[in-house]
Amino acid sequence: MWRIWCRRGFEWRGGPHTWAVVTGCTDGIGLEYARQLASKGYNLLLVSRNPNKLAKVRHEIESTYRCRCRVLALDFSRTDVYDIIEKEFKRLEEMDEEIHVLVNNVSICYPKERPQYFTEIPNLSQFIESIINVNINACTRLMALVLPRMVAKGRGAIINLSSMSALYPTPLLAIYSATKVYIDYFTRCLHQEYKSKGVVIQSLIPAYVSTNMSHNMEPGMFVPTPHDFVNHALKTVGRESRTAAYFSQRIFVYHYYFYGFWSQALGIDLCIHITYSRMKSIYNRITRDIKHEIIGSKDSESTRINLD
Ligand SMILES: NC(=O)c1ccc[n+]([C@@H]2O[C@H](COP(=O)([O-])OP(=O)(O)OC[C@H]3O[C@@H](n4cnc5c(N)ncnc54)[C@H](OP(=O)(O)O)[C@@H]3O)[C@@H](O)[C@H]2O)c1
Repeated sequence: MWRIWCRRGFEWRGGPHTWAVVTGCTDGIGLEYARQLASKGYNLLLVSRNPNKLAKVRHEIESTYRCRCRVLALDFSRTDVYDIIEKEFKRLEEMDEEIHVLVNNVSICYPKERPQYFTEIPNLSQFIESIINVNINACTRLMALVLPRMVAKGRGAIINLSSMSALYPTPLLAIYSATKVYIDYFTRCLHQEYKSKGVVIQSLIPAYVSTNMSHNMEPGMFVPTPHDFVNHALKTVGRESRTAAYFSQRIFVYHYYFYGFWSQALGIDLCIHITYSRMKSIYNRITRDIKHEIIGSKDSESTRINLD
């Protein structure tokens, strides 16, 4: 707690010539970062997949805040998008504009955002390539493009979205959770390497936030809205290099440390057992619902055929 109140936070420098880059910004947490950074005076470079959604977000932000927005409609599941991004960065540089904030937010979870056994994932090989490109490659490649520019200026902030599923293995979301471990480790290493160079690099490890990825869970004490989450998270930049950010979710981190400690002490991996049984009960419930839906639709079809 002392870190939050006593350390000086990041000095936001929103202004007519400073830019924030946000990936995966047409929904959920990314959209909120875009809004709240615009409210701090930043111009925005918005990079996401869907051109229509991007146009809508751009219109909303430009008409609400006094800032300029540029958009790039790119699919991060591909690997040929980084030349386009680099060109855009060079264009900004030529106009004496500065990239001061990068939010590596884009990620995908499992198909239909539901837990699954590894071998049951549809189009497995293609999915593996996509999730690694979106969740790992995008963040790493953008860091490679932005970090040297920030180091040269001796200032900037990079926020990388990991997840609480990086704290302990999450069976039935195996690839997702493993990609988030990569982001967490990568970010913490770079924070250590560059903290003396004026660049703040933060690993965010949220638990559930009410977005499409979490099936828009009912917001409550332990499940913040994206607005509340980002509002808390922005206050931690420069103060905490790795954080769950939202006050009630910090408890989960200690909970994991507690089980982690006892797992080590007893030689039984308590966390993975507990997480697996929680994920399995979600998996069983969804599988049951899908079966009921299929039976229901078959019944109504046969009733219709009989009536015909
Ligand atoms: N929500 C949670 O409970 C939670 C918990 C822990 C960590 N996180 C992390 O927080 C971050 C944001 O999550 P969220 O819940 O806000 O996600 P979300 O609501 O699903 O939004 C994801 C955003 O990424 C874009 N996107 C998806 N695939 C893309 C691709 N291939 N190329 C370009 N853009 C793409 C989406 O655009 P389209 O509309 O085009 O799909 C959308 O704007 C993620 O890194 C996630 O892992 C979330």
